Amino acid sequence: MDLMEAIKGRRSIRKYKPDSVPEKALQMVMEAIRWTPSWANTQCWEVIAVKDPKVKSELSTALPKGNPALSSMTEAPFVLILCGKKGISGYYKGQPATEKGDWLMFDTGLAMQNLCLAAYALGLGTVVVGMFDHKKVEEILGVPQNVEVVAMTPLGYPASEGSATRRKEISEFIHYESYIKRNE
Ligand SMILES: Cc1cc2nc3c(=O)[nH]c(=O)nc-3n(C[C@H](O)[C@H](O)[C@H](O)COP(=O)(O)O)c2cc1C
Repeated sequence: MDLMEAIKGRRSIRKYKPDSVPEKALQMVMEAIRWTPSWANTQCWEVIAVKDPKVKSELSTALPKGNPALSSMTEAPFVLILCGKKGISGYYKGQPATEKGDWLMFDTGLAMQNLCLAAYALGLGTVVVGMFDHKKVEEILGVPQNVEVVAMTPLGYPASEGSATRRKEISEFIHYESYIKRNE
């Protein structure tokens, strides 16, 4: 699949078929995470792959009732939980190298995008889920103190297409030469 086609064609999928995901496809998605760029190649990501319906159901209780991705957490054959090891990305000799502190949100975000695009290229659906009780998920999954849960995604074959989404025009976000000198 052409890269721009994948970038533009991927949509958040919130309805899934029960069909299982082949192990080879899961490995390919992990391979896409593996090649994600990261701060000084620190690769702080950790992934928990959940297939057990009981655990998926428990995880879904961490989402607020109004989260549109709620039912997809139990519908999809897999839920992937993307975590980051703290104090590695953006650190030099144990100290934050920039005023932004830990860059784990950034690096795991890049990993999530690689995951979603690779899944899409394989005909699989994903939806980034960020709105949930992170502490609860960390407890359910036994995540250690030095690691934090960042986001999750169901993974499976789409039962329906994602809804069309609007994007800003390039002219609405590009700034030439400096922030204030816009669109000239
Ligand atoms: C960091 C992040 C958190 C998100 N959290 C949720 C979520 O909790 N529930 C949900 O249904 N969608 C969630 N989304 C999906 C966005 O709503 C979706 O990406 C956006 O509306 C654009 O739609 P598209 O992915 O189909 O292009 C999240 C996306 C990102 C990047």
